[in-house]
Amino acid sequence: MAENVILEIDDKKYNLPLIIGTEGEKGINILKLRDQTGCIAYDPGFGNTASCDSKITYINGENGIMRYHGIPIEQLAEGSDFIEVAYLLIWGKIPTAQERRHFSDLLTDNALIHENLKSHFEGFPSSAHPMAMLSAMINALGCYHHDLGKIEGEDELGPEQQLEVLAARLISKIRTIAAFSYKMSRGEPFIYPDPNLRYVSNFLHMMFSLPHKHYEAMPEVAKALDMILMLHADHEQNCSTTTVRMVASAGANLFSSVSAGVCALWGRLHGGANMAVINMLQQIHDGGLNAKKCIELAKDPKSDFRLMGFGHRVYKNHDPRARILKGACERLFTKLDHKDPLLDIALELEDLALNDSYFIERKLYPNVDFYSGMILRSIGIPTNMFTVMFAIGRLPGWIAHWREVHEAENMKIARPRQIYTGNKELHYVPMAQRQGVSPIESK
Ligand code: SDX
Repeated sequence: MAENVILEIDDKKYNLPLIIGTEGEKGINILKLRDQTGCIAYDPGFGNTASCDSKITYINGENGIMRYHGIPIEQLAEGSDFIEVAYLLIWGKIPTAQERRHFSDLLTDNALIHENLKSHFEGFPSSAHPMAMLSAMINALGCYHHDLGKIEGEDELGPEQQLEVLAARLISKIRTIAAFSYKMSRGEPFIYPDPNLRYVSNFLHMMFSLPHKHYEAMPEVAKALDMILMLHADHEQNCSTTTVRMVASAGANLFSSVSAGVCALWGRLHGGANMAVINMLQQIHDGGLNAKKCIELAKDPKSDFRLMGFGHRVYKNHDPRARILKGACERLFTKLDHKDPLLDIALELEDLALNDSYFIERKLYPNVDFYSGMILRSIGIPTNMFTVMFAIGRLPGWIAHWREVHEAENMKIARPRQIYTGNKELHYVPMAQRQGVSPIESK
């Protein structure tokens, strides 16, 4: 295999080394491009640019492959759970029974948030979007863990143990913050975490229990939500993870890096799509649109309408997560004998799109957001919290990438270049000299 490529500019040839990934993917190493050629690369949206090398997740968009540290997502979905996958992503290995027990104990011990943090919720209007609250509260949380790792009364922890405490604090407390924001929006009292419940059941308890009525999640419901969190846990250099890595590269702490990731995930083209899918299906159901009209609108270049939950920057084949979630959704609905007309509409839309030349030519398939909202809706999670669920799921991936940036031998602050297309040099004329003269004039 070639070890470099030749670039020719103005009759001059330049040798650029190739970097080859584990699965044979090739990258042209342009670290010295500007020094050697005076040119920079131009790639808005970074569709053709690797911002880093990473060991965490491998995606092959052409073949619909996704693996966490080499393990196919289908196998993890079948036999693992969110906390084991979180551990795998952050520490690069499946935990032993003892390591798993220790990490679970840390999650239990760190489920509460500081009592003073509760008053922060009062500062938000009841209509505040849960993603705005989540981002703000995660940064506020960092103020209560400025030591970011030491446990009061214990010896100084080594970096590995500090990271474990830090990861457990965030993974556990993000759940509490999300549930408390839901309670605040409904004017209901906060329900505290129950140390006897497992991760997802504890979250649903904090969400749906009331002082006079305990909510106990059915095993099928807890498993379906655990599956959603697991499938969302990482996805290599997506927009929000790249945001976390950018902020981390400046030396920012984990809380502020994750808080920035939450903001990026909120975008409707990214994590906000799961909400947009349900709103689109609801619009069809309420008669505002029909499935065929939806498809036509999505194809119309003059319309800014997009078939939400379809298409992907990397997957030009089925998103494996969408396939798994479609099956999980149908199994859960059968088990619960749950009927949702939106699922029938989603299946009709998928069938129409997958048989339409516009979508076929552009390799647009259902992505992770197309079916996830259906499951969340059947559990009773409000639509405006769907992206919060995505954030809870994606948190272990963000932590893993933050760690990878901070532990990189050659950690460099992210600072892209640009192609400037603005004014050429102009001369400024101070006010006193402007008698009918423009304040700036060409030199
Ligand atoms: C996530 O990156 C990740 O890994 C993200 C994610 C993760 O786990 O982190 O997987 C999660 O964000 C999934 C994507 C959720 N977003 C949506 O479902 C929103 C709808 N999808 C699109 O907006 C779009 O497909 C994107 C944003 C997902 C990808 O956009 P790209 O790669 O920039 O593709 P593009 O906009 O250049 O589209 C290429 C063509 C265009 O048509 P032409 O100009 O060639 O004629 O495909 C069309 C687009 O108009 N197109 C769509 C479409 N998606 C792309 N047309 C109609 N409906 C769509 N959904």
